[in-house]
Amino acid sequence: MLKLKDTQSKDAFRYGYLLNKMFPYIKAVLWRSILLFILAIPLGLLDGVVALSLRPYMDFVVNGNEAQTFELWGHTYYLQSFFIKLIPIGIIAFALIQGVLKYICNYLSDWTGNKMSNILKVDLFKKLTAMDTKFFDVNSSGLVLSRFFADPDAASKNLINTLKSFILSIFEFFALVFVLLFNSWKLALIGIGVMAIAITPVLFIKKKIKSVSNATMVVGGDMTTNFNETFAGNKIITAYNLQENQNHKFENQIHKQFDLVMSLTKRVGWMSPIMYFVCSIGIAIVMGYGNSLILSGELTAGSFASFVTSLLLLYKPTKTLGFTLTSLQSTFVSIARVFELFSLMPEIKNSENAKPLNGEINSIEYSHVIFEYEEGIPVLKDFNLSVSSNETIALVGNSGGGKSTVVNLLPRFYDIKSGSIKINGTDIRDINIESLRNNISFVFQDNYLFTGSIRENILMGKPNASEAELREAVKLAHLDEFLGTLPEGIDTVVGERGSSLSGGQRQRVAIARALIKNSPIVILDEATSALDNESEAIVQKALDNLMKNKTVFVIAHRLSTIHNANRIAVLNEGELVELGTHEELINKENGRYKHLYDMQFSNQVTK
Ligand SMILES: Nc1ncnc2c1ncn2[C@@H]1O[C@H](COP(=O)(O)OP(=O)(O)O)[C@@H](O)[C@H]1O
Ligand SMILES: [Mg+2]
Repeated sequence: MLKLKDTQSKDAFRYGYLLNKMFPYIKAVLWRSILLFILAIPLGLLDGVVALSLRPYMDFVVNGNEAQTFELWGHTYYLQSFFIKLIPIGIIAFALIQGVLKYICNYLSDWTGNKMSNILKVDLFKKLTAMDTKFFDVNSSGLVLSRFFADPDAASKNLINTLKSFILSIFEFFALVFVLLFNSWKLALIGIGVMAIAITPVLFIKKKIKSVSNATMVVGGDMTTNFNETFAGNKIITAYNLQENQNHKFENQIHKQFDLVMSLTKRVGWMSPIMYFVCSIGIAIVMGYGNSLILSGELTAGSFASFVTSLLLLYKPTKTLGFTLTSLQSTFVSIARVFELFSLMPEIKNSENAKPLNGEINSIEYSHVIFEYEEGIPVLKDFNLSVSSNETIALVGNSGGGKSTVVNLLPRFYDIKSGSIKINGTDIRDINIESLRNNISFVFQDNYLFTGSIRENILMGKPNASEAELREAVKLAHLDEFLGTLPEGIDTVVGERGSSLSGGQRQRVAIARALIKNSPIVILDEATSALDNESEAIVQKALDNLMKNKTVFVIAHRLSTIHNANRIAVLNEGELVELGTHEELINKENGRYKHLYDMQFSNQVTK
């Protein structure tokens, strides 16, 4: 349900439904779009004026004579000299009007298109940050990027531009048709008939466009993911000489994209030449028939010139109108995809009677917990564990045994399948999620630092912390000495993902973040596992400060941490197999803990 690749935008042809959904966003730019569409009307009509003006020019200037006059307000004007003066002025005025209108129209369409897209993007970003951990597990970053970023652009900018060019072209079309009819209705019927035949194929290709556009999006997403992975995993790629691998992957993707684009071109690309060919037949017929009308005196040369010009000019708006349909269709595919994202609902949300979690933590109780990431593959099988206030409980066991899973369930990164997890006797699903998470601090093996200063990264734990609280957290995290060596101290900016700090430094910043949050429950998931002995020692000191007077879950390899725990829970294949103090468990003959201890920890004891 949360996997984006599987979603096929089935709503793409429910235009009314989609416009309805889009309406709040259109409303935000309504007046400017209406102005835009109104101004597109005269802009469309201008081509007709050019074609129309050829008739008096030909008849009165080129083929005219001085005898032709007309009366206006009691004055007599000579037509030839009138048009000779009018035409240069007309050309300048025409260009001026057209230029001004074009500028205003472009300005308005950029403004409205971008504005609408921005509002959509902001709303979609809010949707993204509200999604569950599971959503980020199953979707690739590239696909998320294209779906949340490229689609809103396509949806709004294309919508505005297509509507603008539709209005412009339809008025251009009718103005030119009017000029055709005005000059000769007989020829006009032939011309329009041919045009009608020419645009029919456009109506038959909408299905293909939809499927190709979906597939292109997926491949595009894969490519972005590839870029992201090449970036994030560059050390592994270099170390394992995986460059060829990455290159192949990318080449395959780009070939796939090429094939998709070409398959569309193959089906759509012939339309334009065919249309042009059909039109040329029309023009040939019109020319032949027109000649005979001129010779018989039924048509003036001016009318004919004006007619042929409008017919030639008519090709452009007709073609645009034809493509308006396809482009509207692909716009609606994008709109459908955007609203598909809006309809994604996080599975983990507050229950109706959710209560905040305040005060002390007296007990945390896992009872008969069954949990699976993927349907049918249970990762925790009837897991039971009670933790009391300010207890430190160590989770040990084989890798993949479910230790991280146990602690990830507490802040509801995922919801359990059956059983219950209770804090102070209340099921965590009945606790307000925000307050639940406020009560828990996490330190992981590799902690994410965000681009920004160290101060900003620490303050994420408590944005309104005082300067004194910040100093205290820095001290307890054993960061002050390190920060003292930096010219800009705590205001030093760390690079993306904190890459400019060492592992131990990054951990201590993360610990300071947790310290300042000062939540009653602390979870340490292999917080020191990635460190060398020296940085581990200082990080451990920081962790000891963090663990003071807290209810702590600790997953660690370090013996002393586990020694100091009040109790140790041994997990194997998603089941709690042993529970007790170090002394109790170590003395159990053939015990799981004793076995692990002998294997993993014995060599540390001798150190
Ligand atoms: N996000 C996930 N999606 C699917 N399976 C997962 C996910 N995280 C962990 N698993 C699986 O769940 C099992 C327990 O993993 P985990 O709790 O991380 O073990 P541990 O922390 O004890 O090493 C493993 O088999 C692992 O493959
Ligand atoms: Mg783990």
